[in-house]
Amino acid sequence: MKKYLRSIALCLAMVLMLGLTTSCGGGGTDGRTIIRIGHNQSENHPTHKGLTAFQEFINEKLGDRYDVQVYPSELLGSQTDMVQLTQTGAIDFVVASNAILETFNKTYEIFNLPYLFVSTEAYHHVMDDPDIVGPIFSATKESGFYGCTWIDAGTRNFYTKDTPINSPDDLKGLKIRVQQSPTNVMMMDLLGGSASPMGFGEVYTSLQAGIIDGAENNEMALVDNGHGEVCKFYSYDMHQMVPDILLVNAEFLDNLPADERAIFEEGFKIVNQVEREAWVDAVAEAKDYAENVQKVEFLYPDPAAFQEKCLPLHQTVLDNNPALQPVYDAIMEYNKEYPPQTDAAE
Ligand code: GCU
Repeated sequence: MKKYLRSIALCLAMVLMLGLTTSCGGGGTDGRTIIRIGHNQSENHPTHKGLTAFQEFINEKLGDRYDVQVYPSELLGSQTDMVQLTQTGAIDFVVASNAILETFNKTYEIFNLPYLFVSTEAYHHVMDDPDIVGPIFSATKESGFYGCTWIDAGTRNFYTKDTPINSPDDLKGLKIRVQQSPTNVMMMDLLGGSASPMGFGEVYTSLQAGIIDGAENNEMALVDNGHGEVCKFYSYDMHQMVPDILLVNAEFLDNLPADERAIFEEGFKIVNQVEREAWVDAVAEAKDYAENVQKVEFLYPDPAAFQEKCLPLHQTVLDNNPALQPVYDAIMEYNKEYPPQTDAAE
């Protein structure tokens, strides 16, 4: 079934791409410019809700000039494909995980570090600080896109088909899907598991086919992507808080007249607010469904054992990319100000 849906999605993407090449950069059929936003989540997901609010806002304020269209569920391709489409201007916006962005620009490595933030509060304050994220979001101008705002993607934890993960030792010999990021591969090496980098859309079938033994993500993936149908153990080791980033084609943003640009900037804030408000309830509902309907068992190991294995990665990444040091230091200050949560799963 999934395969069938995927082929339909691919066909649709090809049809759209043919359309894109004819309408991009110019007007739609009624003279309005079509703005296409791609993402890889379902229509129930907080990301889609944030983008739909943006769509409504722009269509309300600038509907005589623009027609914003949101394409969920990898309809325009995988996340990496969609970032490339945004780079070239074939589409205008994409939501991409920070994880895959480090291969486009090394500055993004910083938010891929495991156990970078000691609490959700520290994480949110850092991501809300324009002095920290501003230079990162604009560092990719050379690569053809900017970050517009960040989107909460919760905390990433391991989940597996048959093996409960209570300590890093339990990961030994297991093939775990990670996002396509060198930092994630290094993290899995340090933890003792075997990293299988692949796109999000391939995870469900790979789990089902036994190509991988587990994956790592927030709780939404269990329910929204069906991973909880196959994986029966979800283990709160709390290894990463990796944000999603709304990216825009640089030329598109740079060419907007000042008054329109101001409205778009307001719209970016709406994406962030609406998504974050929806996030907390969405995760609680997903956890409830996973536990009671999918019968996923939630485990609460001591994250310290995992953290100890991963921490050397901070120095490795900083040694290889010393430009990150000031950002890292600023994040450590936020960590002091917003100390660890006592109950990891709350
Ligand atoms: C999360 C994140 C996505 C990402 C996915 C993944 O769902 O929000 O942007 O693609 O994880 O693991 O690939």
